Amino acid sequence: MRQLIAGNWKMNGISAALADIETISEIAATSAPDADILICPPATLIWRAAQTAAGRIGIGGQDCHPEISGAFTGDISAEMLRDAGATAVIVGHSERRQLHGESNSFVSAKASAAWRAGLLAIICVGETEAERASGDHLGVCKDQLSGSVPDGADSTNTVVAYEPVWAIGTGKTPTMDDIGSMHAHIRRCLTARFGSESNAIRILYGGSVKPTNAREILAVPEVGGALVGGASLKAEEFHRIFSAVPPRG
Ligand code: PGA
Repeated sequence: MRQLIAGNWKMNGISAALADIETISEIAATSAPDADILICPPATLIWRAAQTAAGRIGIGGQDCHPEISGAFTGDISAEMLRDAGATAVIVGHSERRQLHGESNSFVSAKASAAWRAGLLAIICVGETEAERASGDHLGVCKDQLSGSVPDGADSTNTVVAYEPVWAIGTGKTPTMDDIGSMHAHIRRCLTARFGSESNAIRILYGGSVKPTNAREILAVPEVGGALVGGASLKAEEFHRIFSAVPPRG
C-alpha cells in the first residue's frame, strides 16, 4: 500500500503561497518519494494550485457540499472542485463537525458527492479529549465510521483519516501504541463492513504531525500516511515529513 501524505492548509494561503506549491511539486518530482503527495489549499487557490502542480502532486479540496448545484450560498460542490483541478476532498474534518455542526450523515452525503464527482474522499474521524478520558474513544470512532463512510467504500474512492481532536494544532500526540491500537480498530471496523478487499483503504494519522515525529508515526502498523495541518504550510517541513515515509516491505 502506497502511503498518502496530505497537507491541509485550512484557512491559510493567498496567491503568494503558490510559490510553496511550486517548491513542493518540484521536490516531489525530483525526490520521487514512495508516497502520494496531496495539498488541500483554500478553495480560492485550487485552480491555480492545480495549474502550478501540473500533476507533480495532487491538489484537493477541504470540504464539499452534497449537492451538485443550487441555492447554497457560500458552498462549493464536489463537481466544482473537480472542475477546478482537484482530485480529492477532505470531508468530516473535526473543525467542520464542531464549528459547523456537521453530522455523520451529512459527512456521508459529502463523501458520496465526492465519489459522484470522481474525487477521492478523505473521511475524518477522531475523538475529543473528554471522550478519550472517558475511555470511549474506540466506540466514538466506530460510530463515526459507520455513520460517515457510505456503502461502497473501497481503496480507490476512500481514505480514512484518524485525527484525535485533542491532538490537532496542540503539539500533543497519542503514544505510538495508542495510534497503533486505534488504527487496528479502524481496520477491523472497515473489514467487518466491507470485507478483506477493503484492507487496501489507507488509514491516515493526523494531529500535530511534524518532521520530528513523522518517521515514528508513519512506521506504525496500519498507518497509511498522514494528514498534516500546520507543518504542511512550510514546504521545507512538509518535505521532511514526506521524506520520512518508510520503504515498503
Ligand atoms: P495539525 O492539523 O497538523 O496542525 O495538528 C491536522 C489537521 O487538522 O488535519
